[in-house]
Amino acid sequence: MEILEHPQQILSWYIAAGVDEAMGEEPLDRYALAGEAAAKRAAQAEKMLKAAEVDRAAMPKSGPVSVQAADEGVSEDSIKKAVQLAGAAKTIDDLRTSLASFDGCASLQKTAMNLVFSDGPADAKVMVIGDLPGSDEDRQGVPFVGDGGILLNKMLASIGLDRADVFVANTVFWRPPGKRSAYAGEIAVCLPFVERMIEIVDPQILITLGGPATHSLLAQQGNISKLVGRWFTYETPKMSHPITACGLYHPDFLIKSPAMKRQAWANLLAIQAKIAEFKA
Ligand code: URA
Repeated sequence: MEILEHPQQILSWYIAAGVDEAMGEEPLDRYALAGEAAAKRAAQAEKMLKAAEVDRAAMPKSGPVSVQAADEGVSEDSIKKAVQLAGAAKTIDDLRTSLASFDGCASLQKTAMNLVFSDGPADAKVMVIGDLPGSDEDRQGVPFVGDGGILLNKMLASIGLDRADVFVANTVFWRPPGKRSAYAGEIAVCLPFVERMIEIVDPQILITLGGPATHSLLAQQGNISKLVGRWFTYETPKMSHPITACGLYHPDFLIKSPAMKRQAWANLLAIQAKIAEFKA
């Protein structure tokens, strides 16, 4: 066996073996950390959105009130504008047109190639909301067209759903640069459009993929592993009835952690059974 002695040789060996990060002495549960970070982002986004809505309600009486919640590239005014624009949209096409003219998420809009709005019919019975667009989605302006999308299509097909019949979108409409996660303000400014999208499509079942979408839309906290397999409801003041909703492991996560596919399969079967209940 070849003995590697030169530090550069050893480093090259690590890189070839797929090591791309220096680790500490103590083991770290990175999934738990990711869950906590996502929960914090979602809670912060919710706070910003609430602050903007309170401010909006106060505006006619007292004039613009400054609420301190600016987050990288996103101002309170942008969130207020998002709430107004999204609320005025009557159809998915209206919503897309409003979002295409919206300039309130500069931190993402200045680097993204395209708006990644949605895919699928506006009268779909099943709606899937993911996290944020990757490079393939950014290039094509369509959600879930990369590797994660290919797996998503297979997951849907495994329970008899054709991707073409499912409405698919994300919690964030523009690709963050450099593979970073979305900031709380970016999630908050997109949220009114996502909420309106759900109101308009009014699906029988809403599936949120991964921690960020599950935390921000289903108002749940904690690691996604504790949320999948449970049923929730999604409702806004404008809706006449609650929508049945559940979280599911994100296909990007399943690509990296194939051992979790077994549990995802069980969750998918529960979704299939729920769809059958709606048909009965
Ligand atoms: N991951 C997502 O969450 N959304 C996409 O559109 C693609 C990958």
